[in-house]
Amino acid sequence: MNKQMALEDVLGEVVSIEKLPEQGCTSEVSRVVTESGTYLLKSAFKQKYREWLKAEAAVLQNLSEKLIPVPEYHGFYEEKESSHLIMSFEQGVTLTAALRAAETQTEKISLIRSFGRLLQKLHEGELIFQCEGDWLDRQLARAQVYAESGQSDGNLELLEQLKSSRPAAVKQTMIHGDCTTDNVLVTDGEVRMFIDVAGMTVGDPRYDEALAIGRFTGNSEWMSAFYEGYTRYKITQAELEYFNDGLYEFF
Ligand SMILES: Nc1ncnc2c1ncn2[C@@H]1O[C@H](COP(=O)(O)OP(=O)(O)OP(=O)(O)O)[C@@H](O)[C@H]1O
Ligand SMILES: [Mg+2]
Repeated sequence: MNKQMALEDVLGEVVSIEKLPEQGCTSEVSRVVTESGTYLLKSAFKQKYREWLKAEAAVLQNLSEKLIPVPEYHGFYEEKESSHLIMSFEQGVTLTAALRAAETQTEKISLIRSFGRLLQKLHEGELIFQCEGDWLDRQLARAQVYAESGQSDGNLELLEQLKSSRPAAVKQTMIHGDCTTDNVLVTDGEVRMFIDVAGMTVGDPRYDEALAIGRFTGNSEWMSAFYEGYTRYKITQAELEYFNDGLYEFF
């Protein structure tokens, strides 16, 4: 089936399909216009990323009408060599792009503060998914599979280190699971929505915190702004390194 026919099975007649100028690293994203609305088509081709996309579809489906701001689910289908997720097309740009475009330091600080606030809300919010055992156990097991099959930057030596130096457990919360500035959207000067939510589950909130601040830990003004919004906990340097420089290498 060609791309348009498969899509039309879900959405009805398609008026246009256009690849977005800003692409992610694991998928191809397009804007699809139909008579009834505008949608985001996210397609994946490699097996690992097809699995992630399927997980993302399940998260979006389970979250519909729930309390966490994410795009709305419209469909998921698989073809022989590819998988496709259809969701609402959302206004806004990633926080990475918004920070690049912001002209003043005040604007940037305000964006970072609102990122902290959104993450705070997620971590303090109700547990929407079932808690399926220990999240870190599951991540270390996945990391092992990726490392053994050469599908990650992390190697088995680093993995052994991570297994033997686990940080003391904290209360698990809802987490995003890949909470970088690339995976949140800004509208009207505020970070308001999570995207790329394949890893959203009940897990260790320090992983989100570490990835959220990972790109600006050297910027003390931005760090202060983040923690004006995110007030529930401040990770230690050791926790930051464990999650951002350690575990994240495998994903
Ligand atoms: N629902 C949406 N509405 C509008 N634009 C979106 C939407 N979802 C994603 N985008 C755009 O597509 C880009 C890529 O999306 P996403 O982060 O989900 O994929 P990805 O980066 O390929 O995934 P990964 O981080 O796993 O590599 C985003 O940076 C954003 O610009
Ligand atoms: Mg992304």
